Amino acid sequence: MPLNLQSAPRNSMRAIAAMCALLGAAKLPAQNPAAAAAGKPQVHIVATGGTIASTNYYSANVGKIGVDALLAAVPALASIASVTGQQFSNVASGSITQDMWLRLSRGISDTLRARPELSGVVVTHGTDTIEETAYFLDLTVADPRPVIVTGAMRPSDGIGTDGPANLYNSVRVAGEPSARGRGTMLLLNDEIFAGRDVTKMNTVRPDAFGAPYRGALGIADPEHIVWHRSATRQPVFDIAGVRELPRVDIAYVYAGADGAAIDAFVVAGAKGIVVAGVGRGGTSPGIGAAMRRAMEKGVVVVIGSRTGSGSVPVGTGASRDGKGPAAVGSGDLPVQKARVLLTLALLRSTNPRDVASVFAAHQ
Ligand code: SIN
Repeated sequence: MPLNLQSAPRNSMRAIAAMCALLGAAKLPAQNPAAAAAGKPQVHIVATGGTIASTNYYSANVGKIGVDALLAAVPALASIASVTGQQFSNVASGSITQDMWLRLSRGISDTLRARPELSGVVVTHGTDTIEETAYFLDLTVADPRPVIVTGAMRPSDGIGTDGPANLYNSVRVAGEPSARGRGTMLLLNDEIFAGRDVTKMNTVRPDAFGAPYRGALGIADPEHIVWHRSATRQPVFDIAGVRELPRVDIAYVYAGADGAAIDAFVVAGAKGIVVAGVGRGGTSPGIGAAMRRAMEKGVVVVIGSRTGSGSVPVGTGASRDGKGPAAVGSGDLPVQKARVLLTLALLRSTNPRDVASVFAAHQ
């Protein structure tokens, strides 16, 4: 039975208001009673900022468009869903922090729990770090209903802006029964990617996103949502009681690189370091020595690849003689995704063998 805010019983209204307060909403969301009454799917939209909410390229104009204006720019939404909107933040995605990941994820889980009538959730986000947020949500929101993250490569006032189409298609997918059980996905340029696999591969083009190792999950065609393959959800982390995430940094390998960055990260308090290795997880002598120094101090090191595609064997987290720790391979996770997984794995254990098991389970 779809919820019509205008005729909702007071308890439902109070529950929604409480959820809005949890997620930092300024007011009760825009609603489309006609769509709800017509039995259309109900979708909750959480806006965080980014180019989709900006009015100019490469300027300080991020955060100009609030969630109400975002929704008003796509009147066609009314024909496909009953939407509620919520302003979580309005920032460029480089300003998204680990603390915001925690609050966003918990807020979405709480909203889904409080609103069984919802078909799914859409998160609007800057595209620069959207893949990290998408993977964090994929790893922490247990509810089977879909979470679709989306954004825009062109600002709201740009020629050929892609934000409205991306938002429209994301709401379609969030309202689609066949999207259930697939975790958090990213939709841009009509393409649907698993939050785990997707990465930004171009600085400006509307088709900037891809999943070079595993490919897209599906596509939002004009008439249908088409799935290319099934998706198996990977184990989810319970973050209900987590107040703070551990510091995890990324160091880059290049010809002749020394270990200064890794040593500095250790001094700064890193509990984990992901190394963007060359090729299949290669290092320079300076980086290799700094990795050993870090591991001797109890920092867990994951070695990935800077190539952008392919895999690095996960291994066991133990050295060949079994006496000391070894770097854990990232599998096919890009280094920025490996950082997200390592951050969550460290909540469970700081033993590299356990971390290796977590990485193996997420391949
Ligand atoms: C950002 O990530 O906030 C800016 C770039 C974008 O959204 O495309």
